[in-house]
Formats: sequence, structure tokens, C-alpha cells
Amino acid sequence: MKIFIDTANLDMIREIDSWGILDGVTTNPSLIAKEGTDTRTRVNEIAKIVDVPISAEAMSSASEDMIKEGRELSSIHPNVNVKLPMGVESLKATKVLSGEGIDINMTLIFSAQQALLAAKAGARYVSPFVGRLDDIGMYGSDVMRQITDIFCNYGYDTEVIAASIRGPMHVLEAASAGCDIATVPYSVLQQMVSHPKTDEGIRNFIRDYEKSKK
Ligand code: E4P
Repeated sequence: MKIFIDTANLDMIREIDSWGILDGVTTNPSLIAKEGTDTRTRVNEIAKIVDVPISAEAMSSASEDMIKEGRELSSIHPNVNVKLPMGVESLKATKVLSGEGIDINMTLIFSAQQALLAAKAGARYVSPFVGRLDDIGMYGSDVMRQITDIFCNYGYDTEVIAASIRGPMHVLEAASAGCDIATVPYSVLQQMVSHPKTDEGIRNFIRDYEKSKK
């Protein structure tokens, strides 16, 4: 499974890239605003640091405007894919942009039916929001599994990005469901590294090593 980082923070991207595990970056307007910058500037900066797919979100509402904005965003760098929020206007824009070879990440997916439509329209990626589904008392992992089953049944090559990841269990569920990618916040990547038994084991080995030196 590929691991993307869900952030617009340059230091976090550099750090996770240095771990040797980074396959991509997803941004969204909230993450960009948190950094006090704008999408074009930040995506350009990210593209200079890492050579991986980078999602940049279009903010237009009408399909004609999304198409223009999508072309502009994709012109920032060949690694940029365009995030469009699920909806009729986005499906129309996906048909046109994907026909031009621009990769679309259909975002804000909350059902397998939405994912099916996005795949049919030509999206390169669909992003089911697992954490936000859990927030409203639904099982995000069920939706991920339904999507991967449908794509497998019909041979869609659209990749499933498990998004809105809130903890290591969501990553495990995404991997078990056969998602192609999980886009994971920095804090969750750090949590994934740690295990109390690993820490205990290291402490004990150091203690015994120190003893054996005497
Ligand atoms: C996905 O690409 C989104 O940026 C992200 O995963 C949203 O997650 P949130 O629900 O934590 O805002």
C-alpha cells in the first residue's frame, strides 16, 4: 500500500520523505490555510522538495470554471493532480480533464455509489473520508471495503485513497480493505512507528549491553 502524507507543512513532508516511506502528498484548502499560504505557492514549493504525486484542490463551483482551474493547477508541475469535490459539476469536469490526461482525485467521497460514478467519469483517485464517516456514527471501513470490492469486480483502475485518517487503526483498516493508498497525517505516522513493547525491548537490550561491558 502506498503512503501519502496529508499535510501542507514543508518540514513534515521533508521529515517523512527522509524515512523512505513517502509515496505522495495530499493538500486541501484547510491544510493550506493553516500554513498561511496559498495553493499555487505551496504546491510549487512541495514539488521542489519531493518527486511524488501532489493533490491540489480546485475551489470553483461550475464545471467550466473547474476545468480552467484544473488546467491551471496541473500546469504548476507534472506531479500535480487536481482534487475535485464529489458532485455533478465535478463529474463533468472530470470527464474533460481526465480526457486531457490530467489526473483527478475525487474528494469528499462518503459512499461507494459516489466512488463508482467518479471512477466511471475517469477519476484517477477517489478519496473516501473514513474519519468523518466514523464521526457521524457510520463505519468508514465498510465504505472503503465496498469501494475496493466494486473496483475489483469491474476492473476499474481508479486508485482508492483512504482519507480523513484519525489513527493507526484507520490505516490498518484501509490496508485490510485493499485500499491502494492511505493519506495519513504526520501525527498518525509517528504513532504508527511506536509500540510500547519495542520501547521496552530497546531499554532492556541497552541495560543488558551495559551490564555485559563491565
Ligand atoms: C484528504 O485528502 C483530506 O485532505 C483529508 O484526509 C481530510 O481529513 P480530515 O477529515 O481530517 O479533515
